Amino acid sequence: MRAVYYASHGDPDVLQLGNLPVPEPAPDQVLVQIAAAGVNPIDRRLRGGELQEYISRTFPVVPGWDLAGRIVAVGEEVTGWHVGDDVLGLAFTWSIQHGSYAEYTPIDASALAVKPTELSFTEAAALPLVSLTAWQSLAEFGELKRGQTAFIQAGAGGLGSVAIPMAKHLGATVYTTARPENFEYLRSRGADHIIDYTSVDYETEIRKCEPEGVDLVLESLLGEGIAEAAIRLAKTGGVVVFMNNEPPDIPDIAERQIKTKFLHHRTDGRMLAELVALYRDGLLPLPQIEVLPLDAAADAHRRSESGRTRGKLVLAVQDLN
Ligand SMILES: NC(=O)c1ccc[n+]([C@@H]2O[C@H](COP(=O)([O-])OP(=O)(O)OC[C@H]3O[C@@H](n4cnc5c(N)ncnc54)[C@H](OP(=O)(O)O)[C@@H]3O)[C@@H](O)[C@H]2O)c1
Repeated sequence: MRAVYYASHGDPDVLQLGNLPVPEPAPDQVLVQIAAAGVNPIDRRLRGGELQEYISRTFPVVPGWDLAGRIVAVGEEVTGWHVGDDVLGLAFTWSIQHGSYAEYTPIDASALAVKPTELSFTEAAALPLVSLTAWQSLAEFGELKRGQTAFIQAGAGGLGSVAIPMAKHLGATVYTTARPENFEYLRSRGADHIIDYTSVDYETEIRKCEPEGVDLVLESLLGEGIAEAAIRLAKTGGVVVFMNNEPPDIPDIAERQIKTKFLHHRTDGRMLAELVALYRDGLLPLPQIEVLPLDAAADAHRRSESGRTRGKLVLAVQDLN
């Protein structure tokens, strides 16, 4: 099969397009013929050699966890899924080898959702990781409710693009940060207050409107003082969800009863199906999606590394229609 893979860690140039054997699905997996693969920052971080203490590699590694395509084989323990079903899913594993930047990928049956005909394969492939992460942060861990306030850092990225409309769907007022180039896009996502972080201090700006702080902070940036600012911005009894780090070791968390954690997304086909229904029915807008061919994977990783992509990048792998 055609696949993009890396045989050693390194910069985006280690990504090669070549031929690899078609992987076998495990008994509780299906094999999906991939139409499109979503690109996430974690793909390039793993390629660069990060997080080896948590996630092991078997080289050559095909990157990519987000996928949309058609089932072509079903493991012997799998029930409810059939050859020919069009699906999307998050092929997350703690040990990476057979990712979605390829013509075929095995994936746990429990991580799948049906792809509705209303969504294209490229639209579907953009959704799993960011949608599950955002919903598990806002609705599940954060229990965000109507009338509450949320600060979603870095609104124009893949995660922010879906987290903002989800927070609006849950009835919250949403604060976010972006460069002015992305303001119109973020208004179209439903953001109520958009702060140009390049010209003002976002903490000061949010505090002008919310002197007591916000009910929930979704913090996806890393950097000097950012984690502490996120805790300060939560109101007493509020929630702070970190995407990249453990909460800072500061007494303020216990003193003001802040509920906080480093949340790592988990696969959940049932939850994904519920979220997909919201996109299908127009209750959540799709993120902006830019489609690149599979052989532009290295370019997609360079773009992701720039930290300037808006919405989602998706690789078109093969035409299944
Ligand atoms: N824990 C988990 O399970 C999990 C899941 C998903 C993502 N994540 C992590 O969350 C982070 C965001 O993911 P993503 O998919 O949204 O990444 P992304 O799509 O690569 O984010 C790019 C966006 O970040 C914005 N940005 C960059 N610097 C900024 C700054 N200083 N302030 C505000 N916005 C800034 C840019 O908007 P502007 O051009 O407007 O600056 C750009 O649109 C990544 O680190 C990712 O690894 C973790």
